[in-house]
Amino acid sequence: MAKEWSGFFYRGCYFPNCVYNIETVKSNPMDQWDIRPDDVVVLTYPKSGTFWMLNLLSSLYTDLNLLLPASNKVVRLDQFYEDADDVPGSYGQHAKAMKESLHAMPSPRLLFCHLPFQLFPRTWQDGEKKCKIIYLARNPKDVCVSYYHYMQGILWAGMDLNWDEWVHAFVDGKVWYGSWLDHVLGWRRFGLKENVLHVTFEDMKKDSKSVLVKVADFLNRPKSDEELDEVVKNCSFTSMSQGVEFYKLISSTADQNSFVSSVRHLRKGQVGDWKNHFLVSQNEFFDREITVKAENDGQKFVYHM
Ligand code: A3P
Repeated sequence: MAKEWSGFFYRGCYFPNCVYNIETVKSNPMDQWDIRPDDVVVLTYPKSGTFWMLNLLSSLYTDLNLLLPASNKVVRLDQFYEDADDVPGSYGQHAKAMKESLHAMPSPRLLFCHLPFQLFPRTWQDGEKKCKIIYLARNPKDVCVSYYHYMQGILWAGMDLNWDEWVHAFVDGKVWYGSWLDHVLGWRRFGLKENVLHVTFEDMKKDSKSVLVKVADFLNRPKSDEELDEVVKNCSFTSMSQGVEFYKLISSTADQNSFVSSVRHLRKGQVGDWKNHFLVSQNEFFDREITVKAENDGQKFVYHM
């Protein structure tokens, strides 16, 4: 049997044992989120540029509340599913604080989430309560590479797969948040009518300003050319790398025990770094299992720039 990152499947999504407990997961804990129509949620599969988008949005709209008062960190909604008692250090404390005090956070809130659609709250799925969701996707090869490097830095997660094992685990969906393909195809079913705007990392790389114009339009909050230019400049890879303050807001950075350095968050920020990692055989396998399936479903991504 291939080596695996220990975990379990529930409703089509993989949950690593390092953070999750099946009983907590089964209780649909995210139904506790008090969805508000003015909530703005950045929804991504991990390593798709989440913090770039959060940084852009919070710089553009300073009235959006990003930090949880109890912990002064950014709210990741999928922490509802995590068993804070099992996770060490500040990470676990933040998950607990998030569950306890999210409802006290003033509106409008800026939140983020990595969950596949099927684990999203029922009230949202049933259309009873909708907030605005910005779904940001990135080509799966660069995601796979970025995710591999990132997980190697989270020591307590116990992800000890080598690159080849990781590629197979990624394709099988046996990584945190499950299958990239299911995630992207699951969320792509929703569009503007359901309050979901789709954008890509590659479009942001090509022309961040045009993506922000779409976002501003979606939020019904237009911004001037000058304001957009300024924010794009301040949130460029170079600017963010020089001023790493933003990354202190991530729940897992505060103690060495759960170390994820800003270097790992802002690693290369490129389109096409996968070419430095994938062997020909791994690339063919990945194309067969993911890229072609995504394209057959109409999801074309940019892999070179
Ligand atoms: P790499 O590991 O390929 O460098 P997330 O925030 O979802 O965890 O995504 C992290 C990825 O987004 C990292 O990719 C990171 O470098 C990239 N990223 C973050 N800010 C960026 C920016 N301003 N410009 C380009 N890429 C950025």
